[in-house]
Amino acid sequence: MDVTLSAIKADIGGWVGHSVTHPDTLARAEELMAAAKRQGVILDYRVMNCGDDLQLIMTHQHGEDSEVIHRLAWETFSRCTEVAKRLKLHGAGQDLLTDAFSGNVKGMGPGLAEMTVTEREAETVIVFMADKTASGAWNLPLFRMFADPFNTPGLVIAPNLHCGFSFEVHDVMAAKKIVFNSPEEVYDMLVYLGSPGHFAVKNVYHRDSKQIAASASTQKLSMLAGRYVGKDDPVLVVRCQGTFPAVGEVLEAFSSVNIVEGWMRGSHNGPLMPVGFASAKCTRFDGPPRCIAAGFQLANGTLIGPCDMFGDVAFDPAREKALQVADILRTMGPFEPHRLPLDQMEYTTMPEVSKRLAPRFVPIDDD
Ligand code: F6R
Ligand code: MG
Ligand code: MG
Repeated sequence: MDVTLSAIKADIGGWVGHSVTHPDTLARAEELMAAAKRQGVILDYRVMNCGDDLQLIMTHQHGEDSEVIHRLAWETFSRCTEVAKRLKLHGAGQDLLTDAFSGNVKGMGPGLAEMTVTEREAETVIVFMADKTASGAWNLPLFRMFADPFNTPGLVIAPNLHCGFSFEVHDVMAAKKIVFNSPEEVYDMLVYLGSPGHFAVKNVYHRDSKQIAASASTQKLSMLAGRYVGKDDPVLVVRCQGTFPAVGEVLEAFSSVNIVEGWMRGSHNGPLMPVGFASAKCTRFDGPPRCIAAGFQLANGTLIGPCDMFGDVAFDPAREKALQVADILRTMGPFEPHRLPLDQMEYTTMPEVSKRLAPRFVPIDDD
């Protein structure tokens, strides 16, 4: 059976500030998704949140880029925005960049990761959701999962993974894409993946079977809107087991520190902390950036889960390390590399300050 899994998310208003979604907005989304399931539009769904981002995880048979599914997500976000406005939540409707839906949520604000799979005898998937960070934040963990034998021993010792994976990488500034084959093109690929603000992994494929292995949201809100409207807060879907990395290999990619852009005012580097569902709440300095992992088995399109994959003591050391890095970075205050370089900050007073101070800049004497 072919099933499409669509994870579509948007920040439609935060409670309190940009910390989390409000239960009433989640409840409205739940009602609308339940109605869509009753009407047979979708096979199944889960409404979740990571920080202030409302996450719609849907299974259906309309395929990718379906107007039916994208409209359902858009209308759900719009109706939830009405609730957010009534409660005067912070930034109500902030990620819905236009009033009118035009057939596809791409380019309209919400983040999107979709894949169509022929459901295996046991179809194991993990949906990762992040808050207070940007698209590209998954580059490092995706590299670890699918290309690093020190993370994923299956690449070395499992015959069905030994062929390696191919990575579709998007140049999010130039709207171009390229496919790299791992392992033989890893050094070339890392030239790009190491700049996650510019190049982001969109999809990963199994080399032999060509099957989709992972898909990430790569939209850049600030580029779409031409101004700061919040960070991208990306989502990622990963298939596990069999010809794909095991669940534990996929999760292992989050056991060491990944410093990402985002955090306070979308203008700081900070650690992407893996947390359980109950800790998906951005507080300190509006963060630190964090991600949750919702594990599912698919049963004819029904979502069996979520299982809270980071809600385990095994990830306590990763959280501890992330919090230590957060402390160290915070001591730097307004200095790089804690604060982003001037041209990458989402908030900046630089144009105003430089205009005002321009007359006071005089040539440096060489004597
Ligand atoms: C970062 C984020 C927050 C806000 C900050 C100021 O992605 O959402 O750190 O940038 O709380 O928010 P505003 O400008 O809405 O008052
Ligand atoms: Mg927000
Ligand atoms: Mg957010």
